[in-house]
Amino acid sequence: MPALANKTYFNYGGQGPLPDPSLAAITSAWATIQELGPFTADVWPFVGRTTESLRQRLAQWFGVSPRRLAFTENVTSGCVLPLWGLPWRSGDELLLSDAEHPGVLAACQELARREQLGLAVLPVQDLCGSEATAAAGVLEALEASLTPRTRLVALSHLLWNTGQTMPIAAVAERLAAHPNHPWLLVDGAQSLGSLPVASAAVAADIYACTGHKWCCGPEGLGAVALSERLLAESRPTLIGWRSLANESSGGSSFHADARRFEVATSCVPLAAGLSTSLQLLEAEGDAATRLEAIRQRSHQLWQGLQLLPGVHTLLQVPPPAGLVSFTLADTGGQVRVPAHVVQQLGAQRIWLRSLDDPACLRACTHLTTSAAEVKQLLAALA
Ligand SMILES: Cc1ncc(COP(=O)(O)O)c(C=O)c1O
Repeated sequence: MPALANKTYFNYGGQGPLPDPSLAAITSAWATIQELGPFTADVWPFVGRTTESLRQRLAQWFGVSPRRLAFTENVTSGCVLPLWGLPWRSGDELLLSDAEHPGVLAACQELARREQLGLAVLPVQDLCGSEATAAAGVLEALEASLTPRTRLVALSHLLWNTGQTMPIAAVAERLAAHPNHPWLLVDGAQSLGSLPVASAAVAADIYACTGHKWCCGPEGLGAVALSERLLAESRPTLIGWRSLANESSGGSSFHADARRFEVATSCVPLAAGLSTSLQLLEAEGDAATRLEAIRQRSHQLWQGLQLLPGVHTLLQVPPPAGLVSFTLADTGGQVRVPAHVVQQLGAQRIWLRSLDDPACLRACTHLTTSAAEVKQLLAALA
């Protein structure tokens, strides 16, 4: 990973660095497309093999059948395109967690305005204890927030701000018992490549991910897993030739499978790059083994932070995954502006990020994070 050669990197949750073999796979696929001829009968088998083998591989990661998987450009479009295709009735309520990403939140708010839906908040951001305590807290908050009009719940699998995991399968089970059986929209931006996702992806109606964060694939390619009931009841939204099973019969022949949410021409070489990144991750062990390695470093960081005066970690226990969020105060107890700290660390070529809500710093550890890098960050913070 050339990006890791000259810096100390903790922004995997923003974007994962691209491994050399993935970049080589992208350029090689690009060259092959040009050699075969970009729009020739010779190239289609290569294009088909490249994209469909990635669909198969991702379907295994998600634990769903390939027909439930659509390619997207990023997480947000994976959340929003199917969301807008659901059959809404005026007065339906959207129950959105208070830890959702601003883009997904804005899309839900605009949908609510257009379709005259109600909005309600599911409070989860303050659940900063153990995974089990947080899971119980989520279910309790859900119980208190559901109403007879609830028609959708939006909840991320791994909260991007606190680093807490959410009990997606248990939430899905509770929603199935609700008379409306509300849709479950899960933002998996921080989960694919960091956590085992299958039990959550199988249970959600919309489980959206991207290749460019924890999978360390190229930016511009993501995927969304859709439930069979969503496929049966939703309509395509942003429509193009790739949404169609048969181009000559127009809108009457949308794909019955998740491809109805794919749109039109996109960059096929990215699929070769993401496939390679996924294979590199697979070579490091299964998802549970990889998570253990990620946690080894995030725990090292979390424990080191406890020893630094003025540091407050958002999570009260070692993190369930690789996101470590914290605030930093100076000796007088004044909390430092997170963006200023990011700037100062950046000047030392140590990269983490600031978040606005709650205002904090976030450092991510991945398989590539070394114990020495964590020590370096702790020393810089000290
Ligand atoms: C939880 C979450 N959702 C959505 C996004 C946006 O991702 P994308 O640009 O792939 O849509 C991010 C990016 O940081 C995120 O952390």
